[in-house]
Amino acid sequence: MTDTIDVVGIVGSLRRQSFSRRLALALTAVAPASLKVDLAPIGGLPLYDQDEDADPPAPWREFRERVRRADAVLFVTPEYNRSVPGVLKNAIDVGSRPYGQSAWNGKPCAVVSCSPGSQGAFGANHHLRQSLVFLNMPVMQQPEAYIGGVDKLVDENGKFSNPSTGEFCRGVMASFERWIQTVRGGG
Ligand SMILES: Cc1cc2nc3c(=O)[nH]c(=O)nc-3n(C[C@H](O)[C@H](O)[C@H](O)COP(=O)(O)O)c2cc1C
Repeated sequence: MTDTIDVVGIVGSLRRQSFSRRLALALTAVAPASLKVDLAPIGGLPLYDQDEDADPPAPWREFRERVRRADAVLFVTPEYNRSVPGVLKNAIDVGSRPYGQSAWNGKPCAVVSCSPGSQGAFGANHHLRQSLVFLNMPVMQQPEAYIGGVDKLVDENGKFSNPSTGEFCRGVMASFERWIQTVRGGG
């Protein structure tokens, strides 16, 4: 397969030194060449308010357009209180509206969760999957990716400091490419 696949990456943390963002960059670096992963910022999205959909704020419009243009979506998220951070949920809600015009609809996606803790944000990963079902986003089932101890596995330059994690994540991204092709009907 030779054509380029436009993947929008959504990171569920705004923190400057975010391990999730580092991980997203590291995942991008080990992705197959056909996957062009571009991280879309979500910190500037005003909180979703249905009243505003009559005349949506520019950041909502731009974000919805960015997601619509994408062939696929890569979510990389930490866990807040055993669920997804509010900033990620807000981005999901913004992209999902107005009703019937969800930018997410039908986009193949993958979820990678991470935590400095040992459970790799399993709770956030699966709460996110619950929303993805409703959004009609075909989500890659395997390999599951719960990256525990992430603070020791990816450096501040977005490089894997642990080779076996790097190989695991290379496999995740290769599977993601195959999954996107399968959803598109070419796999
Ligand atoms: C409000 C809040 C809630 C948190 N809840 C969890 C949690 O439920 N599970 C977990 O593993 N870590 C939790 N943490 C710790 C985060 O995993 C940690 O801060 C991590 O570095 C956040 O991801 P980031 O580095 O991408 O910003 C929480 C952190 C904050 C600030």
